[in-house]
Amino acid sequence: MNLKGQVAIVTGGGRGIGRATALALAESGVSIAVVARTESEIEAVARSIVDKCGHAIAVKTDVTKEDQVEAMVQKVIDHFGKVDILINNAGYAKHAYIHEVDTDVWNTTMNVNLTGVMFCTRAVFRHMMKRKSGYIINISSGAGKRGSYKYSVYSTSKFGVMGFTECVAAEGIQHDIKVSVICPGPVATRMRASNHPGEDPTGIMQARDIADVALFLINQPKRAYIREVAVSIFPT
Ligand SMILES: NC(=O)c1ccc[n+]([C@@H]2O[C@H](COP(=O)([O-])OP(=O)(O)OC[C@H]3O[C@@H](n4cnc5c(N)ncnc54)[C@H](OP(=O)(O)O)[C@@H]3O)[C@@H](O)[C@H]2O)c1
Repeated sequence: MNLKGQVAIVTGGGRGIGRATALALAESGVSIAVVARTESEIEAVARSIVDKCGHAIAVKTDVTKEDQVEAMVQKVIDHFGKVDILINNAGYAKHAYIHEVDTDVWNTTMNVNLTGVMFCTRAVFRHMMKRKSGYIINISSGAGKRGSYKYSVYSTSKFGVMGFTECVAAEGIQHDIKVSVICPGPVATRMRASNHPGEDPTGIMQARDIADVALFLINQPKRAYIREVAVSIFPT
């Protein structure tokens, strides 16, 4: 599929998996809106795309804030004229045994990983419905398919992403909007390192590996109902 001229919003695009996905899509000719809260990171990613003759803007947004998400999507439409692809990648993780779970961590996790995904999807879906076209990819996790010790908070949010994806995918079919979910196993990013200090990052997947899965999915023809690709490599 020729992606040149398409427009993508990548949430959490400032670093890690989101950054790698933004850069990979840009290499395929997609114009990118790089979205997250840390201005220096999203601007650096947008700049590196523009420096390679691509098209990108950085849109500082907290995905947990409904008004900011609505304004971000409108800004992208005003700037690029449309949105073809949404990568719901922004995420938060802080793992703990259940008896030590902090209520603020629970609330932040649900707000970023679930409510943020809903806000972004809803705003973009309305636009895609009018165009009768679009592709939404949610980044869940292997932890969205299997629970494990210390993962009760994060896993709950990522199981939620799985259910949300299935429902929106079912609705999307009527509007020619494809909705998929990727379930990565451990990937060498800041999130992973902060939760697993001391782990050798070279022994696990790299962010670009997940970006390649996203590209693979986007390149599938519309008729292919591939909604879920599990790329789970769990620690034994
Ligand atoms: N790394 C792994 O092993 C792994 C495995 C499975 C799934 N995942 C999932 O992959 C996705 C990306 O994770 P990563 O490992 O690349 O993590 P990361 O390097 O920590 O990046 C997370 C991104 O999300 C953004 N973000 C967090 N809260 C946000 C908010 N409220 N509003 C907007 N942006 C926000 C961060 O930017 P700001 O802080 O600047 O806002 C950052 O750009 C997440 O959904 C994660 O759950 C990761």
